[in-house]
Amino acid sequence: MAHHPPEPFRIKMVEPIKLLNRHAREAAIHRANYNLFSLRADEIFIDLFTDSGTNAMSQAQWAAMLEGDEAYAGARSYFRLAEVIHDIFGFSYFLPTHQGRAAENILSACLVKPGDYIPSNTHFDTGYANIRDQGGHPVNFVIDEAHNPTSYHPFKGNMDIQKLRDFIQKTGVDQIPFGMITITNNAGGGQPVSMENLRAVSQTYKEFGIPFFIDACRFAENAYFIKLREPGYAGKSPLEISREMFALADGITMSAKKDGIVNIGGFIAMNNEALFEQARNKLLIREGFPTYGGLAGRDLDAMAVGLREALEEEYLAYRLGQTAYLAGRLRELEIPIIEPPGAHAVYVDAGQLLPHIPPEQFPGQSLSVELYLEGGIRAVEIGSLGFAHPNPQTSQTVHPKFELLRLALPRRVYTQSHLDYVAEILGKTAARSEQIPGYRLVHASKLMRQFTAQLEPIALNTHPLQSSLKLSTTKFNQNLEGYEKSTLPN
Ligand SMILES: Cc1ncc(COP(=O)(O)O)c(C=O)c1O
Repeated sequence: MAHHPPEPFRIKMVEPIKLLNRHAREAAIHRANYNLFSLRADEIFIDLFTDSGTNAMSQAQWAAMLEGDEAYAGARSYFRLAEVIHDIFGFSYFLPTHQGRAAENILSACLVKPGDYIPSNTHFDTGYANIRDQGGHPVNFVIDEAHNPTSYHPFKGNMDIQKLRDFIQKTGVDQIPFGMITITNNAGGGQPVSMENLRAVSQTYKEFGIPFFIDACRFAENAYFIKLREPGYAGKSPLEISREMFALADGITMSAKKDGIVNIGGFIAMNNEALFEQARNKLLIREGFPTYGGLAGRDLDAMAVGLREALEEEYLAYRLGQTAYLAGRLRELEIPIIEPPGAHAVYVDAGQLLPHIPPEQFPGQSLSVELYLEGGIRAVEIGSLGFAHPNPQTSQTVHPKFELLRLALPRRVYTQSHLDYVAEILGKTAARSEQIPGYRLVHASKLMRQFTAQLEPIALNTHPLQSSLKLSTTKFNQNLEGYEKSTLPN
């Protein structure tokens, strides 16, 4: 059995976790209406809901927090962060924000007019919602290989340059205030983007005079994929690769809750002075004074240290190795996953694992409930519960291409034996897959319903064509009325 590189840290402070007994887990999930968002964190043994803000900080980060300068304006913490951001990302200006979506909100408020189009490989939901909120249209041009779960492509987050060019020519540059790309492509399975593709995207935007922004949440993981997979980069450090990536762009939005290895924080950075001044004014009414941007001074210091730690090679080898290790264990158990795994999560193909559960009965949600019941593990459904939406023309339900369960790995939190446990529990769950029921909605809000939905299991002897399913499908379609694209738990 393969191992991943040993954790490049040892444990100095422990946070106890407890596995409730089966009876207590059954009571908890029933009380939560079969929605894992409604569980209390202390009812969970291993929490793989998200890698966002769930990171374990280092001793250096905690020590830096003690030096946090809480001055309202011009704090020392701000200047320490500014130095790090300038060194890694290189942009002329930056503004701290309380998290990534605040940076996206400011960028969209500055640049997007109603009717504008913003291309990307795949917009993450928060960026998508911020563009929509200004009346704009987010559009995605990820390469076709990204839609094939079994094909191995080293950079499945790449953009299709021809499609991008065609779109720009057809739409006209006046309606494209900026273009984006997300590294790594979270909404597309955490897949990386190659330097070659970043260069081509940058050249394309430049040729048409369109400013280029990177959603850089997982920049360090992306840089390490480039080092491992792209010819010519094996001898370069993740820092050098990062600098090369960002030299291609006009600015970035960043959620430091990912590769800043903090629990809260983000920023926006850019080269254009006029845009910076506009963004600073937006920041003042949304986040606070430009040298703290919605954060405490100590948060800025933790971020400054975390951004550097995220680029350490030993850490990145362990980080990517850990995901690859979990994916390998699941492959051994013949559990279908999206290939190849990205850096921050492994996606299980619940639709394939539970073929007796139709999309209307949420196979990803079924698997998430079973995983909790089997071993107290929390993962998140990425399927019809979160992403089915009505076709505006026909008002028929459009289901997402895949019914997935995402196992996201918080940074530096779980050890290899935790991952072995996760694989073992998934294996046990998969072994009794035919006994796993589908679910019906008993309550759902119109927007972002997966957060608050209430569900109940459908008795297993209910054949999909029998009347109770018809009933639940009707209810399901009613619940989708007016329902818009929804969001992941980050
Ligand atoms: C690619 C991407 N962009 C933006 C965001 C938003 O960041 P935040 O949750 O800090 O607002 C996320 C969060 O998961 C993300 O994964």
